Amino acid sequence: MGLKIIKWQQQEQASFKAVLQGSSLEPWKDDFFSLMQQGHAIVQQHGDAWRWQEAWQKQPQCPVEYVEFNHDVVCIGTKKHINTEENDALHSALHALHPWRKGPFSLFGINIDTEWHSDWKWARIAPHITPLMGRTVLDVGCGSGYHLWRMLGAGAKLAVGIDPTVLFAMQFEAIKRYQREAAAFFLPVGIESLLQNTKAFDTVFSMGILYHRHSPMDHLMQLFSLLRGKGELVLETLYIDGDAQQCLLPSGRYANMRNVWFIPSIAMLKTMLHRAGFHGIHVVHAGITSINEQRSTDWMHFKSLENFLADGDPSCTCEGYPAPRRVVLLAKG
Ligand SMILES: C[S@@+](CC[C@H](N)C(=O)[O-])C[C@H]1O[C@@H](n2cnc3c(N)ncnc32)[C@H](O)[C@@H]1O
Repeated sequence: MGLKIIKWQQQEQASFKAVLQGSSLEPWKDDFFSLMQQGHAIVQQHGDAWRWQEAWQKQPQCPVEYVEFNHDVVCIGTKKHINTEENDALHSALHALHPWRKGPFSLFGINIDTEWHSDWKWARIAPHITPLMGRTVLDVGCGSGYHLWRMLGAGAKLAVGIDPTVLFAMQFEAIKRYQREAAAFFLPVGIESLLQNTKAFDTVFSMGILYHRHSPMDHLMQLFSLLRGKGELVLETLYIDGDAQQCLLPSGRYANMRNVWFIPSIAMLKTMLHRAGFHGIHVVHAGITSINEQRSTDWMHFKSLENFLADGDPSCTCEGYPAPRRVVLLAKG
């Protein structure tokens, strides 16, 4: 591994340390800082790390003349086009970080058309949440960090993302290297590594995570413990139609995913949030996941949702379960 990425990680650690000072996370600054250090060490140990880091190091140093975090496509660029050599170098460096699942991004004119239209999710959520202006926010399972940029675009003072998937950490750093001063930070660790009871975040986002957790009640209770009093939880997750006693525990895969454990009804989700301590629980959106929102692209050329629905019956997964539906609930800590 080259020196540059180590230096970059050290710079990120120093910036994070400076931002923690004076933030609502200050009482736990040493813990958050050491989580970033641990996460960076994990990134370096991953079997594919050398390949991703080599790609990262080959990204050209393009001058940034505009950024746009308030539109569907998270965009960083120059007023004029970068030259062909730079374009080719950036294109191949970014392609080395395949598969790109969460986005879209545009980097110096290169459009990263990700598997997910994460902008559609944000458009369903953003109009309903307490405005993020000046808030310290946590995005649990932030993927490539697409939503962290949208949170900054919506005025968040500090946006912290956590996600244990090393490739996603590298995708975030591929963008962040052109936005060094931005108050968006990625900790490459899982939620289980976070301290309990910090009660430090104004808004906590858990989007697309609950059904991946073995113990969904523990997940909600941990989210509650991270949120300051009267702070807001944004919970986005899969649901099934049914009453307060109904949930789906797939016997094996669900829509080809191995790691789906627990898909409750909306009524059950409300009970779970209530029992975890939340109040003011309400639904702001619910609906079926479209094959236009999650699909294969040039930047994610594996199979996608369309391939994991039943042949001739898109209302069922290929395993015979109800096709994915997603709900957004808001709740107060
Ligand atoms: C379905 S994706 C959701 C990504 C994003 N939040 C969104 O809504 O588009 C689930 C994410 O959870 C991450 N993840 C898996 N285990 C996790 C854990 N223990 N703690 C935090 N995130 C986790 C995965 O790496 C993945 O990026």
